[in-house]
Amino acid sequence: MKLNLAILPGDGIGPEIIEQAMKVVKAIVKKYNHELTYEYGLTGAVAIDKVGDPYPSETHDLCMKSDAVLFGAIGDPKFDNNPKAPVRPEQGLLAMRKKLGLYANIRPVETFESLLHKSPLRRELVEGADFVCIRELTGGIYFGEKGRKDNGNTAFDTNTYTRPEIERILELAYQFAAKRNKKLTVVDKANVLETSRLWREIAQEMAPNYPDIKTEFMFVDNAAMQIIQWPKNFDVMVTENMFGDILTDEASVITGSLGLLPSASIGIHTSVFEPIHGSYPQAAGKDIANPIATILSAAMMFEYAFELMEEGKTIRDAVAASLKAKYVTEDISEGTSYKTSQVGDWIADYISKN
Ligand code: IPM
Ligand code: MN
Repeated sequence: MKLNLAILPGDGIGPEIIEQAMKVVKAIVKKYNHELTYEYGLTGAVAIDKVGDPYPSETHDLCMKSDAVLFGAIGDPKFDNNPKAPVRPEQGLLAMRKKLGLYANIRPVETFESLLHKSPLRRELVEGADFVCIRELTGGIYFGEKGRKDNGNTAFDTNTYTRPEIERILELAYQFAAKRNKKLTVVDKANVLETSRLWREIAQEMAPNYPDIKTEFMFVDNAAMQIIQWPKNFDVMVTENMFGDILTDEASVITGSLGLLPSASIGIHTSVFEPIHGSYPQAAGKDIANPIATILSAAMMFEYAFELMEEGKTIRDAVAASLKAKYVTEDISEGTSYKTSQVGDWIADYISKN
């Protein structure tokens, strides 16, 4: 198959982890005789520094003509403490999501046997936890009207959702639930927010169309608690943009490392695959960051963008083997730890040899 990729390394550790994922992609392409073409694009703080725009139009054109986008991370501390910065790296990510129509962010939460002892939760609570968070990605408070009034002394961000936006994400969530354990948890704050009441209303209308799926409603504050108390009770969780942002960070740490979880953003024009973690600027250039989340994002890319399930599984197996062999970066090692680049080489090599 012909695979035409856009590669957006971004900021901080982005370039290093993307480099490892590309080693893995190339090993897979060789093993399964695919044809790979790819091109790099600028995004994030590096793009602001070079061309003054965190998502330049050249990058957008590149994404639009690619079958899939592999994304590193964006964000730079020099912007974080400057609320007055006229352009911010994060705006690039949001512009990309909106322009590519990436309305669904899929974040699987899986545990790895060899890392259970690293989880902040007791083993018996977390062992076997396996669920998927589906986060709406192009609506809500992230994209609603925002601004200042009263000479800048009052600020507002508006949370807006339309029926079609809610329906399409719920439909996708039901499809996931149908393929999994047939339980969908709709997370909202319907006791307070009007947007949440519309979500709940629409979900209640749709639920009878999926009679073999159990639809459950949960307030977001309760969900935050349940994720750490009973993570095994979840199968598919669907929620709006900002709740999903917060809950998926929470969910990711129960696996033992934030450095392990991948994500897929799917939608209208193309899809983007990226680790859940951020740009980890303190580690940039040090060859210590964990590349596994990005490598697993590449696995999701083979599965979701190209329906190449075996290729995806081969990557997952290689990652599992590296964890079992304890050939891992310092964030999850006990004793000897290896460099980012060494872990990338090990996993790519395992794929070539097995
Ligand atoms: C994420 C990130 C982004 C978000 C930021 C960088 C804008 O936290 O992908 O979860 O809030 O969506
Ligand atoms: Mn986030």
